[in-house]
Amino acid sequence: AAPAGDVTDPAVVDFPLRQPGVPFPPPDYADYRNRPGLVLTHLPDGKRVWLVTRHEDVRAVLTNPKISSNPEHEGFPNVGETAGVPKQDQIPGWFVGMDSPEHDRFRKALIPEFTVRRVRAMRPAIERTVEARLDEMLAAGNTADLVADYALPIPSLVISALLGVPPTDRDFFESRTRVLVSLRGSTEEQRMTAGKELLRYISRLISIKEKWPGDDLVSRLLANGAIAPHELSGVLMLLLIAGHETTANNIALGVVTLLTHPQWIHDDRAVEETLRFHSVADLVSLRVAVEDVEIAGQLVKAGEGIVPLVAAANHDESVFECPHQFDPSRSARSHVAFGYGVHQCLGQNLVRVEMEVAYRKLFERIPNLQLDVPVDGLGIKYDSVLYGLHELPVRW
Ligand code: HEM
Repeated sequence: AAPAGDVTDPAVVDFPLRQPGVPFPPPDYADYRNRPGLVLTHLPDGKRVWLVTRHEDVRAVLTNPKISSNPEHEGFPNVGETAGVPKQDQIPGWFVGMDSPEHDRFRKALIPEFTVRRVRAMRPAIERTVEARLDEMLAAGNTADLVADYALPIPSLVISALLGVPPTDRDFFESRTRVLVSLRGSTEEQRMTAGKELLRYISRLISIKEKWPGDDLVSRLLANGAIAPHELSGVLMLLLIAGHETTANNIALGVVTLLTHPQWIHDDRAVEETLRFHSVADLVSLRVAVEDVEIAGQLVKAGEGIVPLVAAANHDESVFECPHQFDPSRSARSHVAFGYGVHQCLGQNLVRVEMEVAYRKLFERIPNLQLDVPVDGLGIKYDSVLYGLHELPVRW
């Protein structure tokens, strides 16, 4: 249970929280959860921020109106490089960084695009995309890097289909988004260039859809009128970035977990448990207090940054029994891997289908899939905002 009461002497811990050789989520998270109040850390820029680790407290932070998502507020946490993510003031429509009521207009316009029904209608297209990747992989030999060859292209191709990018442009789109999210193997300059090229492409796509509307998300949003065309580019960039590496990391990590827990390979419940178990977006839901506020008995002053750690919340033993066990038979639905409250992930219905199709088709087509390196030799992304793998060598 969350200890409460005035905490005058909070613990201070080192950042980064992810370290080579230490499993993720770090065992230290359990220690933070058991301390009264909150824990402090210093980010690379020297700023002090509060870490929130208990499930109940993470949800309280993410629903508190005195706490903002707007990175323009003084004190907003800067946890490190988020590959090619544009600054909000350079890109209107970046609504994940807005608060209510400004945020509501965008959210309301986007919700109908991501309903269970709408996503169900996309399933055949997702299946075709996944099958095509597998055809290419199988034609190329009996080894692959499942990150580069499978996990990264799938979400990018799915998002380009969602946006109505014509099939002939999807390779361009996929190659640019790949540069954008690869912190290794590309320079900052290359990432900035890729970001600009995509933004330019997206603006062109919007003008084309203005003239020749089709049955796609961009045309529908233009017809709806709630979002102005100049804001729409930011919205589309957000969809692209928010849904790319997050999904790819879950696909790749999930494959490793299924290979090491093969009894769950053909069980669709593995999707929800993978989301909880890996919690790749541990450092994503960043916030800042805009008024003094009390969280778990700790006074957080206006202007202080807050980092709700969703991996810590998703491994809170007061909510999930034996949290470090991968057990798809548990009820994982109350996890906060997609955040919580008004900014909770818009793409979650889509991701669930993408992950399910990605696992099912992979193991159907390649039943003898094996890791080509020992599990403890896998290149973990310790240095990026999202938890994931740099590469995943496999053979069959
Ligand atoms: C928001 C995680 C995939 C679109 C979020 C947030 C999290 C998250 C934690 C909350 C951010 C916050 O609180 O500040 C994930 C994970 C994914 C995933 C783990 C994959 C497994 C996607 C996909 C899309 C998407 C595929 C769309 C194509 C968005 C958008 C928001 C968001 C638009 C902002 C919502 C708002 O501010 O109202 N996501 N996401 N995400 N996600 Fe996802």
